[in-house]
Amino acid sequence: MKKIICAIETSCDETSVAILKDGQLLSNVVASQTLAHQSFGGVVPEIASRLHLENIDRVLAQAMAEAHVTGKDFTHIAVTKGPGLIGALHVGLQAAKTLAALYHIPLIPVHHLAAHIYANAFVKPLTFPLLALVVSGGHTEWIYMKESLSFEIVGHTVDDAMGEAYDKVARLLDLGYPGGPIIDRLAKEGKVTYDLPTPLINDPNHVSFSGLKTAVMNLVNQLKQKKESIRVADLCASFQEIATSMVVQKTKNLLVKYGVNQLVLGGGVSANDALRTKLKALEVSHKIHVHVPPMWCCTDQAAMIAKLADVMIDANAVGNLSMAADASWSIEKAMVI
Ligand code: KG4
Ligand code: ZN
Repeated sequence: MKKIICAIETSCDETSVAILKDGQLLSNVVASQTLAHQSFGGVVPEIASRLHLENIDRVLAQAMAEAHVTGKDFTHIAVTKGPGLIGALHVGLQAAKTLAALYHIPLIPVHHLAAHIYANAFVKPLTFPLLALVVSGGHTEWIYMKESLSFEIVGHTVDDAMGEAYDKVARLLDLGYPGGPIIDRLAKEGKVTYDLPTPLINDPNHVSFSGLKTAVMNLVNQLKQKKESIRVADLCASFQEIATSMVVQKTKNLLVKYGVNQLVLGGGVSANDALRTKLKALEVSHKIHVHVPPMWCCTDQAAMIAKLADVMIDANAVGNLSMAADASWSIEKAMVI
């Protein structure tokens, strides 16, 4: 049977609709709200929900026009059920339920972080078992996947997410929002000259970013008190060196512990140049295959929601019209729908 999946993503500040026909991506429209949130230095949930509501019809219409399909052609509707901002999720969910009810077709509730992992399948099929590293603005998790659609969290941050740490450090240095891409760019112009500590925690599988952020804050305050200028590019390079090394070291530990030969990277921070380079280097040093997503599917978009939904449909993992959004849905429960 042919499958034409219409997927909707509204978990944070991107309104996105994608259409996937028999595995082929026909369209993937993303309306980013970054400009609207920039002056606040972060995503304002109320504004995000309102803008999703304003944009969703237009984004859906554009996705259908680009794919040359009408609503009647859809065989399935997929939507991000969580995790994310609850008000933002509700907009996508309501739109998805309306379409599923209107066309009498199944609704697929998709886990946002699991979809970040499956985004890599646009490039190469995933093979199992594998270790996935998901690094975003809200999460930093290592997931062991024994087989497709099975998710076990085997490592995580004990405080801030990696993207959150980038955004907070950027705010501290008045660099703008989102901070990740800005720090990534500036780090290339600087040198690792500031001595920042690697936050130590007892568990070899977990990481902590809050201590690193505080160390940057203390350093900036000291320099200001001494009226010394801050070499911003060098500070970005120094911060990035510790942040990425910490994550790469934990990844190495877990690769050894779980004996996998596949590593898959996902989430907004997977766009980070230093992280991508360091993880790619494990292909040689650890003799493993490393999947890093192409830049177009690092950040939030509905194509990845459609990709995972496609696999879920084949596994008969289909939801119903009474499903609710789940802002803090654990990836371990991604198949409890
Ligand atoms: O997955 P995502 O688009 O949204 C969430 O689900 O959180 O991730 C957004 C996060 C932000 O914190 C942003 O600063 C970070 O990804 N990010 C980066 C880079 N590009 C985006 N962090 C470091 N380096 C980058 N190049
Ligand atoms: Zn995301």
